[in-house]
Amino acid sequence: MEGLSEVHSVTAVKAELGFSRPSEVVDDHDVRGLRRAVTRPIDYDFSQQFEYRQCKVQDLCASDQPSTNLLDSGFETIDLAPLRGLQSLLAEVKAVGEISNDQARRLRRHLRGGIFPLGSGKCLKMLHIAPEGLVMRTGGPNGLKVAPHLTMTEMNHHDVAQAIHGDQDVRGTPLKQMMRGKAPWLFRHQTPDGSNRWSPLVLVNLWIPLQQITRPLTLMDRRSLDASNHQLRYALPTESFLDRSDDMRLNDIWSFLHDDSQQWYFHSRMDHSKAYVFDTLGEPHGSFILPGEDVAEQYYLHLQELCGQLLAGGVKQRPAASTVALPADTTLPLRKAIKSMASLVASVPLGNPGKPAVDAWLTRVREAMDCVVRKSLEMRVVALLLPDQWPFNRR
Ligand SMILES: [Fe+2]
Repeated sequence: MEGLSEVHSVTAVKAELGFSRPSEVVDDHDVRGLRRAVTRPIDYDFSQQFEYRQCKVQDLCASDQPSTNLLDSGFETIDLAPLRGLQSLLAEVKAVGEISNDQARRLRRHLRGGIFPLGSGKCLKMLHIAPEGLVMRTGGPNGLKVAPHLTMTEMNHHDVAQAIHGDQDVRGTPLKQMMRGKAPWLFRHQTPDGSNRWSPLVLVNLWIPLQQITRPLTLMDRRSLDASNHQLRYALPTESFLDRSDDMRLNDIWSFLHDDSQQWYFHSRMDHSKAYVFDTLGEPHGSFILPGEDVAEQYYLHLQELCGQLLAGGVKQRPAASTVALPADTTLPLRKAIKSMASLVASVPLGNPGKPAVDAWLTRVREAMDCVVRKSLEMRVVALLLPDQWPFNRR
């Protein structure tokens, strides 16, 4: 494989992000004067509803990148490393690949009441982790379904989000019913038809990457969003993963149209020692496929095939070395993961190597293949914005 020995550090990648198609936009018949993206059945062809547009996505791990903060940009990262018990729990969930009810209870216990410093001289006190919306997502490289036999439940086996979206309309279902229409008065928010910039109460998503060498989350600096022209109401059907009454079957979220002026960010290196907090009430976000993931997918499938051959009696001949060059903007972590898979393909034991050699190779292969599967946890948190000074930030 060419280029694997070179060390590249990228500051931005070119990637396809999924936006609503302009042909799917209609005028809303509501009194709010907004536009809406048409709701289609849950199994409707993605490409009919959404279009992929090439965007520059800047890597916040690179030097000289702007800093982001929750209040202005709509998102920032918080440090989870000091919470040792939480870190052990997240490592457990990452290893198993799904979260149990008991682990979800422990996760909530670790976070409830936690205080995290933010930019802008504020800190975030987590008051309540919502019972609904705690979700673990898993996605293979380049969109590969790595566990197609597993059925999506309320918490587990969710695919990564392909379309750029905002998670909740402050005036929409289910907040409207749950808070009897008071949510816009209680929660700080900014929407195309109104804002509340004085409330210290926020509804945020806490998004914890268990590993995201592939399919990372991207978030927009919402100061670059023209909300009145590009933010659309969208009713998301939820019956495939939530058991709700008929009046709350459609979740009112936001969809977005593409525009060249929008600024997008991601982290090429991020594990569960950090997490994103972002505004649930409209911050545009979604996952994307990194340059080079198609190569990772090919090695993943190659290793899967070799594992099958080895367990079925042995590999007779090593596959020829690949001559595929990785794109110049392949991130360093992905480049390393591909290199590791390439060396395992080249070192597969031939003939009758004996059980210890086979077991050793299979263990390394499982680790290398697992590395390129994106795993993340997300939940919704009611939190308070406080000055980052004593006694407000007292733990
Ligand atoms: Fe989301």
